[in-house]
Amino acid sequence: MSVRAVVLAAGQGTRMKSSLPKVLHPVAGAPLLSWVLDAVLGVGADQVVVVVGHGATEVEAILPESVTSVLQQEQLGTGHATSQALAALGEIEGDTVLVVPGDSPLITSATLSRLIEVQQAEGAGVALLATRKSDPTGYGRILRDPDGAITGIVEERDADDSQRTINEVAVSTYAFEGGALLKSLSQVGNSNDQGEVYLTDAIAILATEKAQIVSVETGEVEVMGVNDHQQLAEAARLLRQRVNQKWMNEGVRMIDPDRVYLDESVQLESGVTLLPDVYLEGDTTVAAGATVGPSVFAQDSEIGAESHVWFSVLRGASVGDRAEVGPYASLRPGTVLGPDSKAGTFVETKNVTVGPDSKIPHLSYIGDAEIGEASNIGAGTITCNYDGFEKHTTRIGDGVRIGSDTMLVAPVTIGDEAWTGAGSTITKDVPPGALAVERAEQREIPDYAAKKKRRKRREKSDE
Ligand code: UD1
Ligand code: MG
Repeated sequence: MSVRAVVLAAGQGTRMKSSLPKVLHPVAGAPLLSWVLDAVLGVGADQVVVVVGHGATEVEAILPESVTSVLQQEQLGTGHATSQALAALGEIEGDTVLVVPGDSPLITSATLSRLIEVQQAEGAGVALLATRKSDPTGYGRILRDPDGAITGIVEERDADDSQRTINEVAVSTYAFEGGALLKSLSQVGNSNDQGEVYLTDAIAILATEKAQIVSVETGEVEVMGVNDHQQLAEAARLLRQRVNQKWMNEGVRMIDPDRVYLDESVQLESGVTLLPDVYLEGDTTVAAGATVGPSVFAQDSEIGAESHVWFSVLRGASVGDRAEVGPYASLRPGTVLGPDSKAGTFVETKNVTVGPDSKIPHLSYIGDAEIGEASNIGAGTITCNYDGFEKHTTRIGDGVRIGSDTMLVAPVTIGDEAWTGAGSTITKDVPPGALAVERAEQREIPDYAAKKKRRKRREKSDE
């Protein structure tokens, strides 16, 4: 008995008031639809078909390789969408066909597996996922006869007053026996308030044909659908909670998990501490013992063991073990900080390799540079890497002392153990061990202040 899955994702999502197709809106770092596909792929389905329509090309672009799509030209309803997938599914008699809406990102593989198991174990025509809502507005209500057998689903807009009080609702998630799906779908019409072909109507048809219909109940959070931005924000909050709980179970410490924003793709080791207002995105990793936050944004970056990163922005950067970053550092792409190094307060780096134990403690811009081991870059140092046409490299050796406010006009090389005098503009290479000073000699004018005062007073009395 194979399992095939159909994911409904052709709708526009009118209430999102956005040109982006609804299922592509990102939550916790991934589009809505990707969360659904993860859950569907997690049940080990033999085939997964996504029904696309609005923004079809954009939606198809995010599908994993193992997932195919079919186009629903016009959005004529959930039943119509499901029938579009049938041709792609081929021979399905005796198989289980899982149908899942593309806009419910909190659904889990565990619940979908339970639904499939129940359908197969009972040999049911359909197992439908149900939940109870204190406010069922907008959902299809599950109708039962006096014996409790399911007789159909009625949509909100087609329901009468007494049906509207029913709080057991359907959530567009079903495990059909293939033959039962084929047979019932072919009979579904569109005589309802919206003139659409409703998948929900397949249930009443199966009931009339005395097929077995079973329900599987789940909590309302898991089946929450996203139709507007408020629900999108709520779904994001719940998914973040799920991601954070997973990491806390793996030994990550968070003093306030409601203020930690992790993409699902981020990898953390146990013993990491994340403080409030930390955003870790994309391909970011944090190694054991590191403390990140408060207030860090890191994208596609690597944060080493026992390092400390706070109040900073990291993009495409790598921070070595025991290194220190911030407060107020901006590490741009290509920054590689070695172990025990530092990029401190108001430091911006780009395309820079900083060797072990080297420090850039304050107020510097270091771009297109290579810094060796145990060198110190004085406050206010700038690598003048751009001549208006091209970028050039600054090379700084081991054990170098760059004086405060040094301008390093690239291309330029500072040899091992060399020094530069504070305030120097260095345009020529400095040999190892040398001191380079480039600035005017200081001179003093004695009694300048008193003289200046006297002159001013004279000018006033002349007026
Ligand atoms: C649907 C169900 C309702 C259920 C509710 C929440 C029907 C008739 N109603 O209503 O019982 O309580 O979801 O789960 O099934 N879609 C297509 N093509 C279409 C129409 C829809 O692919 O022609 C897709 C949408 O992109 C969406 C899903 O199907 O992912 C559900 O469609 P939606 O319009 O949100 O249905 P609801 O009115 O919410
Ligand atoms: Mg919906």
